[in-house]
Amino acid sequence: MMFINYLKYSVKVWDLPTRIFHWLLVLAFIFIWLTQGDDRYLDIHVFAGYLFLGLLVFRLIWGFMGSKYAKFSNFPYLKIWNYLATLFTTKRQHFLGHNPAGSWAVFIILGLGFMVSITGLLTLGGEERHGPLAGMISFALGNSFHEWHEITAWIMLGLIGIHILGVITESWLHNENLIKSMITGVKFTTNKTNDVPKYGLIAIFMILSTISGIFSYFNGYLLTENYRPFIGPNLPQNTLWQEACGECHLAYHPSLLPARSWQLMLAEQENHFEENLYLEQEDVIELQTFAVENAAENHLTEVAWKNNRSISPEQVLLRITEIEYWTTKHQNIKSEIWQHSKVNFKGNCVACHLDAEQGTFEDAAMRLPLNSESND
Ligand code: HEC
Ligand code: HEC
Repeated sequence: MMFINYLKYSVKVWDLPTRIFHWLLVLAFIFIWLTQGDDRYLDIHVFAGYLFLGLLVFRLIWGFMGSKYAKFSNFPYLKIWNYLATLFTTKRQHFLGHNPAGSWAVFIILGLGFMVSITGLLTLGGEERHGPLAGMISFALGNSFHEWHEITAWIMLGLIGIHILGVITESWLHNENLIKSMITGVKFTTNKTNDVPKYGLIAIFMILSTISGIFSYFNGYLLTENYRPFIGPNLPQNTLWQEACGECHLAYHPSLLPARSWQLMLAEQENHFEENLYLEQEDVIELQTFAVENAAENHLTEVAWKNNRSISPEQVLLRITEIEYWTTKHQNIKSEIWQHSKVNFKGNCVACHLDAEQGTFEDAAMRLPLNSESND
């Protein structure tokens, strides 16, 4: 620490791993925000999240084992009050490594980053049944972690905004370019000081493991057409159900509607949307048993849970396409797409969901038919 003077000596303060950490974290964060909210990009979101978490873990370790200015023990965080009080006076202090505000930014961003990552893993495991915590948490709990995931992410975004403002202010006050320093690693000082070591091998390791991570995570896109990044659980199937119900349309998996809907539909099978299904009584019973065992109330999938939640207990719907969750999820689809030759009617889930037969309706298995193939 020294008072601002002629900053004539250049010194390398940020080692390579610290700089790579910083910019990879920025990149991961940007991807995370771009893919947030649209589950079709969930696999990119999740990969960027793993990268983000991996980087945070690295930074935590580097805070103890890294070079001089990267070490937490060298952070002047206790000097924050004095630093802020003199910031806009001529007595303002210049720091070679992080200044006290920057030190707090690192601590807070690390802490929040861990919270965002952990709530993200809990959401992924609970709501989507994927990731290391798959199925260990209920849908309802996963859903509430989802809220915390969003809240902590927004707080983090706000803090990053403050961090950027701080960097710009400090750069302007001391007439130095801190953003450039985080790229080159170089800062300027009044006294000659030693450069930090490069740690080139660790830097190469970081870059190589990121690249190989990308390839191993996304290789499915290179290998298979219609690649599905997430495959849902194998849901129970029933041959009679597939045969009796798959004749005129997709054999909708029972997990899509509550038990009371299936019971009514099968009880009234000779008047099934103006068709007669001509089912034998014993077959009706077998179908009802299968349907009730796997109905929406049993929460076999995220859709099952969400469909069931959006139907009021006194409602007995016979159409999946009348469930409120279904209608809100499909409200933005243009009428040209509904009229597309490959779609024809709303209940033709297979036209847009690659896993409609399995009944899992994974977010990332959704493909809209291309507009150009329309026949009118
Ligand atoms: C003989 C032809 C036929 C068979 C067999 C048949 N259905 Fe249907 N099903 C229809 C028709 C027609 C509709 C109405 C389609 C429309 O108007 O969108 C329909 C609609 C449905 C819907 C509502 C789809 C939506 O819009 O959400 C469900 C659920 C359904 N059928 C379940 C079954 C089940 C379960 C079976 C087997 C027990 C079955 N169907 C067998 C003809 C059939
Ligand atoms: C014309 C294409 C199309 C058809 C047909 C269609 N869907 Fe979809 N579906 C979509 C699109 C597009 C989305 C994504 C909406 C979004 O995320 O904004 C979606 C989303 C969903 C989701 C939400 C997934 C999630 O968790 O975010 C479910 C569940 C779903 N569809 C079920 C069905 C079922 C069941 C049927 C048949 C009864 C069906 N869809 C028919 C296009 C279609």
